[in-house]
Amino acid sequence: MCGIYGYLGEYPASDEILRWLRRLEYRGYDSAGLSVARDSGDIATVKRVGRIQELKNAVDAIGLSDGRVGIGHTRWATHGGVSEQNCHPHISYDGRYHLAHNGIIENMSELSAKLSAQGISCQGSTDTEVATNLYATIASDDPISSLRLFTSKIEGAYALVFLDRDHPDRLFGAKKWSPLVLGFAEHGVYCSSDRRSLEGICDEYVSLEDGDIFVVRSRDDYTIVNGGVQIVRDREELSGEEIATELGEFSHFMMKEIHEQPQVVENVFAGRVNFETAEIASPTLKALAKRDISRIVIIASGTSYHAGLVGKHYIEHLSGIETDVVVSAEFKYSWHRIHADRVYVFISQSGETADTLECMKLVKAKGGYAFGVVNVPGSSIARLSDAGLYTHAGVEIGVASTKAFTGQILTLLLMALALGNARTLPHAEYAYLLFEMRKLPDLIARMLARSDAIRTVAEKYASYQNFFFLGRALELPMAQEGALKLKETTYHHAEAYSSWELKHGSLALIDANFPTIILNADGPLHAKNQSSTQEIHARSGPVIGVISDRADAALYDDVLRFPETVYELVPFVQVVLLQLFAYHMTVVLGNDVDKPRNLAKSVTVE
Ligand code: G6P
Repeated sequence: MCGIYGYLGEYPASDEILRWLRRLEYRGYDSAGLSVARDSGDIATVKRVGRIQELKNAVDAIGLSDGRVGIGHTRWATHGGVSEQNCHPHISYDGRYHLAHNGIIENMSELSAKLSAQGISCQGSTDTEVATNLYATIASDDPISSLRLFTSKIEGAYALVFLDRDHPDRLFGAKKWSPLVLGFAEHGVYCSSDRRSLEGICDEYVSLEDGDIFVVRSRDDYTIVNGGVQIVRDREELSGEEIATELGEFSHFMMKEIHEQPQVVENVFAGRVNFETAEIASPTLKALAKRDISRIVIIASGTSYHAGLVGKHYIEHLSGIETDVVVSAEFKYSWHRIHADRVYVFISQSGETADTLECMKLVKAKGGYAFGVVNVPGSSIARLSDAGLYTHAGVEIGVASTKAFTGQILTLLLMALALGNARTLPHAEYAYLLFEMRKLPDLIARMLARSDAIRTVAEKYASYQNFFFLGRALELPMAQEGALKLKETTYHHAEAYSSWELKHGSLALIDANFPTIILNADGPLHAKNQSSTQEIHARSGPVIGVISDRADAALYDDVLRFPETVYELVPFVQVVLLQLFAYHMTVVLGNDVDKPRNLAKSVTVE
């Protein structure tokens, strides 16, 4: 997703910006650019479509090693196609202002028409170019009053950082509904849309709030204004390691992160579960369990939404609390009355997904209780939550989410157990499940050891273009997640269905070229899933069975086996299997598995 960055300090700005752009490469982008105020008084701007290395080569070619102030941007196209023209920073018509922007200016057509009427036309098709030109028409030498006027004219979401050719000793900008922080290091000050990108570089940071306008002149000289009033925002300590970009023994981050899942499980348990006493010791979960809850509503996007669907199963079965799961993009515009006795659970790996964040603001504004299940500490959703739990999966670099999902479903399972224990769940059942959960790291490790067997099947089916993923009950969201992983990285078409729903229309697609992956754990629905397999076979469709070690393989063309476990824990092994299946097929196809086309790691626009 788009990222913005500014640096003002003692180091060469282009080095700092390129270093940052590289760190955020994993987030997904299609082009990148930077503007640096050179010692000569000019501003050098370099933009490239494609990878950061191409931008670096272009920067090296012009010898851009001077200049201590600059801005940079990675772009993920929203308005306007992928081109250097549309890439940031944008330069105002008079050449004075350079702007890097995240978000979407929603009244761009109206603003663009007004600028045209003044004889100012835009070369490209982005909202940011319109914004840059608008700023140039209204700006004075005082950036605070100029930004106040400017932000009163633009509508939408934005994090903005400007560089002014005539005052190259300062950076200034504004924030509304898009993340932006100021980071402080000994040698300078940074503006960044990703707080984590500053870890290991800065020792302190300030999180800007919606409506903030800022001017930065040095690490100790900066001004923040909100609603016309100067604000002092607390500097917070920035601990944490520099984002790990080491692959170690792995060829790709996706594979590395798939293999980190046993550790994620340990992390989620740490300090929260006492296995000796069969107790969930988390104060957050204890407090949640004591609440009088009429219903739970889970709101999330993408892989986090699928985790929510697994969570619904856990919560309803273990605690008896009815649970809805709504895709963030739909919740905001659906008819939902907010109730004070409901708990609204927001699941997000990044904690910055705009669709989810906006729902959270809406729920809170109407008096709802917001509980965050978030991976990134200090992210916007984490900060806004009334209470919440971190999923402790660590930095996830692969765009296709893997280990974050495991952290999410385990957190939701703990939540369901805590709620159930305080309600009607028999203690023996609660203690038994906790006992089995303790084996999860080992169970997942045993699943990982089957990677080669999964690769063999993935290779066999790599040339097929269409896939069904089928499952029922707890396995349906797993089928959805399996299909999503395959789509994201192989670009093959994959659809998930309830095994029994297929016959109501979509069965028409089945033929010898349309393989089906059916998730069929041992349990009450096992025989019914076998009937679905027969229906597909009768139409010549190949079927890959995802079955346990003890299940009969005779019915299937191929099988992918997982180690036996209790039904509630099947998602933890199936997801690893499905991730490996998508990974291996992608590698066979030669796609960039860590940076799939068109996708972004964290979608910070609605
Ligand atoms: C993007 C990513 C997905 C992710 C979704 C939700 O679309 O590409 O992998 O599942 O956002 O992200 P979140 O950070 O809110 O979990």
